[in-house]
Amino acid sequence: MTRIAASIYLLLAAIFAAAPLLFEAGEQASSPWTPFIASFHPLILHLPIGMIAALLALELGSFIGRKTDLSTRNFIWLLTALSATASFSTGYLLGEEGGYDRELLSDHLWAAGIFTSICWSTLAINELKKHTLLRLLSLIAISISLVVASHPGGVIVHGDPFAAAPWKDKPSPSDNYGLLAEPGDPFNPYLEIIQPIMDAKCVSCHGEEKKKGKLRLDSFEAAMRGGDFGECIEPGDSFNSLLVELLEYPLDDEDHMPPEDEPQLTQAEIDVIKWWIDSGARPDQMLPRAEAPDVLHPFFVPNYRLLEKPPADEMVEMPQPSGA
Ligand code: HEC
Repeated sequence: MTRIAASIYLLLAAIFAAAPLLFEAGEQASSPWTPFIASFHPLILHLPIGMIAALLALELGSFIGRKTDLSTRNFIWLLTALSATASFSTGYLLGEEGGYDRELLSDHLWAAGIFTSICWSTLAINELKKHTLLRLLSLIAISISLVVASHPGGVIVHGDPFAAAPWKDKPSPSDNYGLLAEPGDPFNPYLEIIQPIMDAKCVSCHGEEKKKGKLRLDSFEAAMRGGDFGECIEPGDSFNSLLVELLEYPLDDEDHMPPEDEPQLTQAEIDVIKWWIDSGARPDQMLPRAEAPDVLHPFFVPNYRLLEKPPADEMVEMPQPSGA
């Protein structure tokens, strides 16, 4: 009986170690249930983490004389393996929907597969030998693989936590983070106005880490390449550019960009993007300020704020000269 159980556990261990090989990002959802099930990943992933913490306490306790009943610990091991399996499976489906950084996703998937696999192998060990030291060793291996698995997962969703570490360089106030510095004269409308708007309001989902709709907007070349629907910028023709179409959809339309709960573009920002596309969507055009058309004037305000939302009608007015 124990041998049968152990073989089943080992089989499961092998399946999860190998599952990342089958993975393909950006697959079409095979059933309408897939995105629904996948959406539980952020909830479920915390279960195995908590269980491992409990197991660490129980197993370490048994070393210092606070023994817990073996069958209790085995039961928690089983729950851990089951919750790891649920977490891995929902994460796998979520990753298939695409839009995540490939490399980070692959690291996350492999480490999570190994984590789940060690959980099942430990159950097999528990069946065959009640060897406390071996259990402790697999617990340490599991804890390490858990940390290795969690880190890229967290980076995919929240960005790198170490970017805010005290020993890292911080952007100084003079970097105008979130602000558009005053354009020079002559100035490059793309570099000094268009790209900063995209950086502030699009790149969090269309950049290196997330590429929603397989679209990146963090460089001119990437923006021109387009995404799932092909090119989204038609030089000289903003009316037929998908990007503009999505910006102008009503806010409550599900295809509206940026999505409803994100910082929105002001009318002035939409207008300047349209102007740039209509004038050829060039990355290198230089324009003397005296020749800049009205749509560009709002952006000559020193340190134009990109991440605030002034009333749209105020923005298209000619700006007040600074200090006056
Ligand atoms: C909070 C995340 C988020 C932000 C911010 C965001 N987008 Fe998107 N965008 C998405 C998602 C998700 C999709 C994919 C929708 C789909 O595939 O059904 C998408 C798709 C698109 C597409 C279609 C790409 C294609 O070919 O499939 C365009 C164009 C686009 N976004 C432009 C923008 C622009 C321009 C901005 C900034 C003004 C922006 N988005 C900001 C999430 C975002």
